[in-house]
Amino acid sequence: MPSTPYFPDVSPIRYEGPDSRNPLAFKHYDPEEVVAGKPMKEHMRFSVAYWHAMKGAGSDPFGVGTRVMPWDTGGSPIEAAENTMHAMFEFTQKLGVPFWCFHDRDIAPEADTLKESNANLDRLVKLAKGLQDETGIQLLWGTACLFIHPRYMAGAATSPELDVYVHAVAQVKKALEVTHELGGQGYTFWGGREGYDTLLNTEMSRELDHLAAFLSMAVDYGREIGFKGSFYIEPKPKEPTTHQYDHDASACHAFLQKYGLADKLMLNIEANHATLAGHSFHHELEYAASNGMLGSIDANRGDSLLGWDTDQFPTNLYDTTMCMWTLLKHGGFTTGGLNFDAKLRRQSVDPVDLFHAHIGGMDAFARGLKIAAKLMDDGRIPQQIATRYASWDSDLGRRIESGKATMAELETLAHEKNVAAAPSGRQELIENILNELI
Ligand code: XUL
Ligand code: CO
Repeated sequence: MPSTPYFPDVSPIRYEGPDSRNPLAFKHYDPEEVVAGKPMKEHMRFSVAYWHAMKGAGSDPFGVGTRVMPWDTGGSPIEAAENTMHAMFEFTQKLGVPFWCFHDRDIAPEADTLKESNANLDRLVKLAKGLQDETGIQLLWGTACLFIHPRYMAGAATSPELDVYVHAVAQVKKALEVTHELGGQGYTFWGGREGYDTLLNTEMSRELDHLAAFLSMAVDYGREIGFKGSFYIEPKPKEPTTHQYDHDASACHAFLQKYGLADKLMLNIEANHATLAGHSFHHELEYAASNGMLGSIDANRGDSLLGWDTDQFPTNLYDTTMCMWTLLKHGGFTTGGLNFDAKLRRQSVDPVDLFHAHIGGMDAFARGLKIAAKLMDDGRIPQQIATRYASWDSDLGRRIESGKATMAELETLAHEKNVAAAPSGRQELIENILNELI
């Protein structure tokens, strides 16, 4: 750690319980508390997102940044990058978060040539590795920024320009190497600009072929250098493009299946991306988990009154409850975690706001976990679901589910039964039970 800390007034954040009024304490997240069979910290595997937490300055499409954080002032770009890395580890350690995530260009400035950019990256990776060893903080996943630089204006892996594609491949190769060097548990692809602004100038199927070849090369290279972590694709329907190919979990799944990649990559589901796609966060998580594709989660939320990706910190207890319920039902994370891909509001201009934001998000997920565990122990909602499908647990139901029944046989039965009504779905009752447990 540098001799001058960046958060001198903040002591390590501790659990003080629901009655505490200390804004710099957890009210619900107690990392060691055992819930549903394991400590909370193992359920959550929280992660700090370097790009928002350390680099976000509060700019939006209508205005420049509103805050200058102390680690971002003075010195050369590479010195500022080093200060930022120190600040990130101090912040993450004080918060008690076990993981971090980054894009290559978040941690080290891009230079005029790929060679110099790689050298900058190596310098910062060396520093990060030392700080990881010192603090015990681990890398949840790394990624490459293939969307900020103007060369990527028409995409990277789907650029119509071959030289751009080649550059992107080289950038990902290096990002994979450094992720591996830092012991990353995963590597994420978010198709920053992989999509189109208009179909009038786009060969969609060709672009998709190129994207598949890109992912395939990356997975093969990762395995070749000994990277054992998971690969994730992060669905998002739009923004910055009009249409992103990785639209939602099911579109990504279909794409991966088409190209024989479904057993090589999983999904990194982001709450705000789900709602942009017209789904709930719960829907995307359930789709991914029930298809064995849920790898990791970008924890944030949108604003129902705004149409864009506001990346707010998660505070909605229904969302966090449904998320943790899905995780509990499907066995939880292996390599993934809850990464706070969330940014401070533009009017939150102080370093301490970063603590408030993350503490709130961690407490919201802690409550979600406890409520989800209660929901399972209570048993009434699972029982309602079991009752609702009970007719399928019959011999006939099983035979249909295993593809052994015929239409003619079912027709005979339909004539016999001549069914006129179906049982109640009990939605209101179930909603009432959920509110009781919250
Ligand atoms: C953008 C987004 C990214 C990815 C990583 O909407 O979510 O920050 O998580 O590239
Ligand atoms: Co994200």
